[in-house]
Parts: sequence; structure tokens; C-alpha cells
Amino acid sequence: LLKKCLKIMSKKDSFVQRVLSGVQPTGGLHIGNYLGAIKNFIPLQEKYESLFCVVDLHAITVWQDPNELLLNKREVAAAFIASGIDPSKSIIFNQSNVPEHTQLSWVLNCVARIGWLNRMTQFKDKAGKNRENVSVGLYTYPILMASDIMIYKATHVPVGEDQKQHLELTRDIVLKFNNDFKVNLFPMPEPIIMEKAARIMSLRDGAKKMSKSDASEYSRIMLTDSDDEISKKIKKAKTDAKPLPDTIKELERMPEANNLLTIFSAFEEEKFDLVFKRYQGKNFSDLKKDLIEIVINKIGPIRQEMIKLTNDEKYLEDILKSGSEKAEHIASGVLKEVYDATGLKF
Ligand code: TYM
Repeated sequence: LLKKCLKIMSKKDSFVQRVLSGVQPTGGLHIGNYLGAIKNFIPLQEKYESLFCVVDLHAITVWQDPNELLLNKREVAAAFIASGIDPSKSIIFNQSNVPEHTQLSWVLNCVARIGWLNRMTQFKDKAGKNRENVSVGLYTYPILMASDIMIYKATHVPVGEDQKQHLELTRDIVLKFNNDFKVNLFPMPEPIIMEKAARIMSLRDGAKKMSKSDASEYSRIMLTDSDDEISKKIKKAKTDAKPLPDTIKELERMPEANNLLTIFSAFEEEKFDLVFKRYQGKNFSDLKKDLIEIVINKIGPIRQEMIKLTNDEKYLEDILKSGSEKAEHIASGVLKEVYDATGLKF
């Protein structure tokens, strides 16, 4: 028995520690995407083999204008690099250029259960009352996401909090696949979710997540916003008439104030409690004035670099091309193992 356990343990440990995350190329990126996800990719690439994917196949679960999709894909790749992802350390690539994602996805469609998908709250939110009329892809989207992770045997997945349930589904699929086929093919992926910045809220409504699909542009700050736009949006951000409270307990009942302090602390990489202490009892105008300066200082250089990169089509194309070659090298090996394990390989 001991021998057997040691064998399983050594197998478990033999997985390469690998990071994978993806971002949809739909309608630009906001500071929620940046603080909740992209910013956290940067230190991980120093420690792990890392893959960062522009997930265009996820984007088309909702209709996209083909020309805009192309531009948005470039923008996400540029945002990755401008934020500090180093193409010589990490693999940056485009999902549809590595067909193994969709090939594995079919196999996983046959492993995952309908009941599991029916529990996905993001589908319920996105489909709303229109449930009978959204694409089938929107429904099976979390399985493609599991495939993105599993096709690289990723062990760590940095995401914002809204992706937590999808990660749990991936873990269920990993477990069932390994059990069904009596293999130890896939490692159990661990989510990496920031404590507070994992859920940046709308600037207009502290109860709603900051989102690309919100009707109000004032609800979000985009990575491409000008200094002027950043300043206007923060000035207009919803706050209370009274000053900031004196205790954290009171602050918890003030979601908009909480959100502004969270954004401050995430950009400054300063402990939330310390930031709160500095502004407790003060007027919102004091906090907003400082926050405008911080956001402009942090976003400005990223925006400039994004503009430079998106103008250099050839550079971006080369990076994505070499990224997808490297990604496919890993993915094709894993797909082969999956086909062997499932009897699909003849
Ligand atoms: P997407 O494109 O909606 O968002 C990209 C990343 O940004 C995070 N995020 C936020 N974080 C904090 N506050 C917010 N308001 C906020 N809004 C978005 C998301 O959690 C995400 O990490 N399904 C994924 C993309 C995906 C993926 C994957 C991620 C596809 N395959 C495999 C990881 C691994 C999505 O739609 O993210």
C-alpha cells in the first residue's frame, strides 16, 4: 500500500507548475480586468511557466463584429504586454490558433454533466430572461474554459472572483476525467484570487460588478481612457453625502466608498486598512483628488504603451504567432495523452 501511495504522490508532484489565464477580447479592458486579473499575472511569470490567452472563441458566444473582434484581440495582447507580461518569459497567444482547445473541449463535453452546467450563475446572469434564445456556446462556455486550463495541465489559474464557479466546475471535470479513465492525467488546478481587488465594483453602483456590458460608460475606467476621462469618471463616481466613516464596520455598509478605497489600495499596493486609516472621517473630495492622481499615474504609461504596440501590427503578430506555436507544442502532447486514455486514438 505504501508503495502504491508513494507512486501516486510522486506522480502528483511530477506535474509542471504552470499558470494559465484568459481574457476575452470584447469591447476593451477596464481596471476591474487589470486589478482583478492582469496585474496579478506579472509576478507569477517569474515563478511559473505561464500562458496568457486571448480567448476569442469565448468572445463569439455572443455575436461579435468580425472587424472589431480582430482589433479587440490586438488590444488585449497589447494590454498584456503593456501591463508587464514579458513575451520572452510568458507565452502570449490567441485561443483559436491552437485547435487543441476545441478538440479537448468536445471530450470534456462528454465528461461534464448537464446538472453541473445548470448551476452556473454567470450563464443565468448573461442569458437572463432570454434563456431559450442565447447561443448554445454561451451555455457550454465553462467547458471550453475548463479545456483552456486542462489542455496545458495548468496547476494555477489567476482570475477575478466572478470566475470562481467556473474554476470549481473545472476541478469537478478534472476529478471525473481522472476517475472515469483511471488515470492521473490532469492536476487539480488551484485558483489564485486576490483578496479584495478580485471584485472591483461599478463606479455608479457599488452593488454591481464593474463590467464591459454596463450601459453607463461612467461605471468603468478603461485602460485606454485619457487622463481627462479618468478624472471625470472618478469625480462623478457615486459616493455618500456624508464624509467617509470612522470605522471599518460602518464602511462595510458603504459599498461605493469601499470600492474607491479598494481601487486605491490595489493600485498603490498598500494595505487596505492603512489606506482606510488615512481617509477615515475625511471628505470624499480628498479621497477622489488623490485617487485621480494615482489612477492617471498608473494607467497613463500602460495606455501609451498600448497605443505604441497596437500601431506595430507586425510586432504583435510575431509574438502571437510564436506564442501559439509554443502553446500548441504543449497542447498537442496533452491531447495525445487524452486520446490514448479515452480510446480515441487508433
Ligand atoms: P473576462 O474576459 O470577463 O475577464 C478577464 C479577467 O478579469 C476579471 N474581472 C474582474 N476582476 C475584478 N473585478 C471585476 N469587476 C472584474 N471583471 C472581470 C475576470 O475574473 C477575469 O479573470 N471566462 C473568462 C476568460 C477565460 C479564462 C479561461 C480565465 C476563458 N478561459 C481560462 C482563466 C482560465 C472571462 O470571461 O474573463
